[in-house]
Formats: sequence, structure tokens, C-alpha cells
Amino acid sequence: MQPASIDDTLAQLQSRGYFASRELATALFLALRMQRPLFLEGEPGVGKTELAKAAAAMLGTALLRLQCYEGLDTASALYEWDYPRQIMALRLAEAAGEKPGGDTLYRDEFLLKRPLLQALQPDPQNPSARRVLLIDEIDRADEPFEAFLLELLSDFQVSIPEYGTVRADEPPLVVITSNRTREVHDALKRRCLYQWLGYPGRERELAIVAARAPESSAALQRRAVAFVHQLRTMDLFKAPGIAETIDWCRALAALAVTELDPQSVQDTLGVLLKYQDDLAQLDTQRIADTLALAE
Ligand SMILES: Nc1ncnc2c1ncn2[C@@H]1O[C@H](COP(=O)(O)OP(=O)(O)OP(=O)(O)O)[C@@H](O)[C@H]1O
Ligand SMILES: [Mg+2]
Repeated sequence: MQPASIDDTLAQLQSRGYFASRELATALFLALRMQRPLFLEGEPGVGKTELAKAAAAMLGTALLRLQCYEGLDTASALYEWDYPRQIMALRLAEAAGEKPGGDTLYRDEFLLKRPLLQALQPDPQNPSARRVLLIDEIDRADEPFEAFLLELLSDFQVSIPEYGTVRADEPPLVVITSNRTREVHDALKRRCLYQWLGYPGRERELAIVAARAPESSAALQRRAVAFVHQLRTMDLFKAPGIAETIDWCRALAALAVTELDPQSVQDTLGVLLKYQDDLAQLDTQRIADTLALAE
């Protein structure tokens, strides 16, 4: 359902297991109201992708997801024709003694619609819902693709020579994410509402962990979150994200750890830190010191 206010946005996201900051809920609410794309940047594992999923669930539609990568082209992003089926149709028409024309080849059923095109058309399962399009990790795509996207996002229409023009009756909610492996063009950013996603405060992270790793005890969750927050103050190559905190609580629960001690932390540190240099920094003494600080 379209949220009626910022509080309603927060509540609706939360009922789907997503705990947003007020700033993020405001940005999402405005993106919906102003029909502007939402550009999310932030560290890995802080809930960028997940927000798009929660927003789609909130609006009652299936999420359309375009994962960007180097070399992504319009055939994978927008549409392509199903050549094998077109050839088959051509042969069948010839065998039947018909003269094949454009309507033999360019039929709706032969048009393979990729996420960008799908986003311009109603959701067949729920035609009245606003579509939600996630363009994930735009920083991985090439610049020409970014330019193409810019055009699409400005008029929400595409023209397919053999088929016609497809235009969205209502612009989809577009969520674009970036991990900042490179800067995205100002022209694209200018069209969007921008939101930086940082690490959450303790209370919000606790709420997330409680919802996503319910098998761990409240006391353990509190201690684990405090420890992770201490880790984030250290000079690490890659600090743990929310995803890692959740995984860690689940791992501790799976090992039936009820009390955090240096040994149990040491044994499971690979769930939180994924770089050898970071792991090497945390020897037994440092773990004990960090645990002492994480009260
Ligand atoms: N605010 C949140 N509320 C609930 N769960 C969250 C939240 N933020 C993150 N999570 C959890 O953390 C996991 C990772 O989040 P997500 O995949 O959205 O991160 P990301 O920012 O897209 O990371 P990456 O840059 O690596 O793709 C999610 O699967 C979800 O379980
Ligand atoms: Mg992501």
C-alpha cells in the first residue's frame, strides 16, 4: 500500500522486517510522492538491496531487479527478440504456404521483456500496484549504460522499432544502489533523491538482529551488537555490515554459545571479518580488550 506519511512508511517497512532510519523512510516516502528515483549509497551489507525488496512488498508487487555488471547491454536490461521462436514461426508460416510478414515475427509473445521494459508495464499479478525497479550496483555498469539509463529515467518510455513505443502510465519506483567503486555521473544523481546508508545505531541494529536471527537470545544479541559496534570503531580494511552481525548471531546460536568469551569470538571471527589482515589484527588479547569495552 502507498504509505500515507513518513511514520506510515516506517511502520509498513518494519512490518516486513525492514528497520529503516527516519531519514531513509523520508527519502523513500518522497521518492514515491515526487515520482523520483531513489539513489542509495553506502557500505556493503547495510540494507540497500533489502530496502528495494521491502518497498516492493509494501506496494504489493514483485520486485524487478537489474543486477549491473561490466558489459551489461540493452538486450539483457531492456528487451531482445526470441530469435529461435521467430525462426520457427517463419518456417511454420512458409510450410503453411503463407507469406510471412512483420506480424509473424514481431509478436508480443516473442518479445523477451527484461526488467527495464517490465518496469514500464503493469504487474500482471497486481495491475493497480506501482512497479518497483531495483537497479543494483550501478557503479559496476559501464558509462554508456549509465547514459542510456539517464534517458530512460527522464521520460519512462522506450521505442522498439518493430513493436512500437512502450510508455509507463505511472512511473515505477526506481531504487538505484551503488557501492562507490566509482563515482556515478552527476547527471544521473541529479535526477534522483540521494540517501547515504551508514551503519545503524545500536538500538536499530538490535531490532534488526532480533527480527532476523530470532534463534539467538536477547542477551547474546545485545552483547554481539555491542562487540560489532566496537569493531567498527577500529581501523579495519572492511568493517562488518548488518548482514555480518545477523550471520554472527545465527552462528553463535548454532554453536549453542550463550555467553560471549574470547574463545567463542576467536572461533567465529571469520563470520564477521573477511580479510586476513583484519583477522590478524584481532589476536586473543585484542579480542579480550574489545569484549571488555563492549558492555
Ligand atoms: N534496515 C534493515 N532492516 C532489516 N534487515 C536489514 C537491514 N539492513 C540490512 N539488513 C539485513 O542485512 C542483509 C544485507 O543487506 P543488503 O543485501 O540489503 O545489503 P546491501 O547494502 O545491498 O549490501 P551490498 O552492497 O553488499 O549489496 C539483508 O539480507 C538483511 O537481512
Ligand atoms: Mg546489495
